[in-house]
Amino acid sequence: LSDFGIQNEPVLTYLKGSKERAELEKALQEISSKTEEVPIVIGDKEFRNNDIHYQVMPHNHKKQIAKFYYADKNLVQKAIDVATETQQKWDRTPFPERLRIWEKAASLMANEYRAKLNAATMLGQAKTIIQAEIDSAAELIDFFRINAYFLKEATKYQPISEDPKVTKNSMRYRGFDGFVAAISPFNFTAIGGNLAYTPALMGNAVLWKPSDTALLSNWVTFQICREAGVPPGVVNFVPADGPVFGDTITASPHLAGINFTGSVPTFTRLWKQVAQNIGIYRNFPRLIGECGGKNYHFVHPSADVETVVNGTIRSAFEFCGQKCSACSRMYVPESLWPQIKKGLLEKRSQLKIGDPTDPKSFTSAVIDKKAFDRIKSYIDHAKNSPNLEIIGGGKCDDSVGYFIEPTIVQTKDPHDKIMKEEIFGPVLSIYVYKDNQVKETMDIVANSTSFALTGAVFAQDENFLKQAVEDLKMTAGNFYINDKSTGSVVGQQPFGGARLSGTNDKAGGPHYCLRWGNPQAIKETF
Ligand code: ALA
Repeated sequence: LSDFGIQNEPVLTYLKGSKERAELEKALQEISSKTEEVPIVIGDKEFRNNDIHYQVMPHNHKKQIAKFYYADKNLVQKAIDVATETQQKWDRTPFPERLRIWEKAASLMANEYRAKLNAATMLGQAKTIIQAEIDSAAELIDFFRINAYFLKEATKYQPISEDPKVTKNSMRYRGFDGFVAAISPFNFTAIGGNLAYTPALMGNAVLWKPSDTALLSNWVTFQICREAGVPPGVVNFVPADGPVFGDTITASPHLAGINFTGSVPTFTRLWKQVAQNIGIYRNFPRLIGECGGKNYHFVHPSADVETVVNGTIRSAFEFCGQKCSACSRMYVPESLWPQIKKGLLEKRSQLKIGDPTDPKSFTSAVIDKKAFDRIKSYIDHAKNSPNLEIIGGGKCDDSVGYFIEPTIVQTKDPHDKIMKEEIFGPVLSIYVYKDNQVKETMDIVANSTSFALTGAVFAQDENFLKQAVEDLKMTAGNFYINDKSTGSVVGQQPFGGARLSGTNDKAGGPHYCLRWGNPQAIKETF
């Protein structure tokens, strides 16, 4: 085995004439010229039924790129049975063998299938090449390699024997006795890979319910892992209706855990169901979830304007604001507002929104009609509310694709719903505060939402920064000083939020894989 260390996968540039550009263009052509048929996979068997669904391109929603099927209650139950049985055998597979499979998967993702993963993410989730490369190449590969590295490191630490002549103490990590359900979102291909395959690495068997709108890229991930040697039944590919899937897994005595990224209402529903059924389980199911945010940029009067403007444009509008870490509320002092406003509006007007495969596009469409309608409803609210003013953007057009212009809203009311609720789209709301009300405004930042995922403060004043680190301590699982609220890197800034943003188990950190391990201490007496 190579010793990975914490080496992040380098992001490629796709310059004209480069080998990667030629491979990408070929893969884009292949994916856009057909509708790929994607089965349900349970163990070594494929299933198809009459509950047919399609994944379309968000920027051109008449074009279908994948046809897939929803597993019904019986098929979900079948997957539970197969996973529960497979787990016993899989857990006996020695760690070096599992690590070799993960290393192989990472290498296939980095080489043979990089173009296919990126093309499926670009066309299926409307990402530009740089956004896809950050997600379905670099981050996905990093999750496989760096979790394997962390696991190897963790297994090195063993308890120290009191008396080596009499006893030997050791620890080992098993999987959970049952199955784990991974329920993944559309916004990052890499998250699907992490949610399904990190529990599997630890000896669990998994039912993976991918998002309908990330179906193809998740299917490519699944196929790569099969080719790398993940045995049948260890991860089962089970697209399904959310409530049918949720109801079936939580009614099974073998449910050992749920690895979730999605909305607060869905995660809350799963918790409630588990609580209601708590007497039936063989384990106390482990629930790990990441549920979004209302991430902030707080600008102090001592801040550097250019840093603020550049960071805010990127955080709020890259990935169409569909990163859970995206900045969506901003607090600016009156003294800096004229310069910041000018900078934001200038930069915003230069952003090209269009086809994700056009290298000139900064972003493309939002993911689907539901997202389009939700985001538009906040823009309509801004249009109709006397306290709010749209100072840039605001156009929404879903005639061909689900396009929403990067939009900047100024509010006179820091408690308006636009400053509190998660929008998950390219809408940035700004409250301008009086320079002598830094403390009062920080109180609003800290207490006006139930989320605590990411946040950033911008300031040159060292005393203020010391204060902010304390006063804003509970507001973010990932806190940035003089940098935007997005862009955490696996192995560098473990990611996750507290409060209702999630259980804060820190994906990409040294302890994440251990959360899916079931440790056993062994004392051997001679
Ligand atoms: N890793 C992603 C970011 O922080 C979620 O932007």
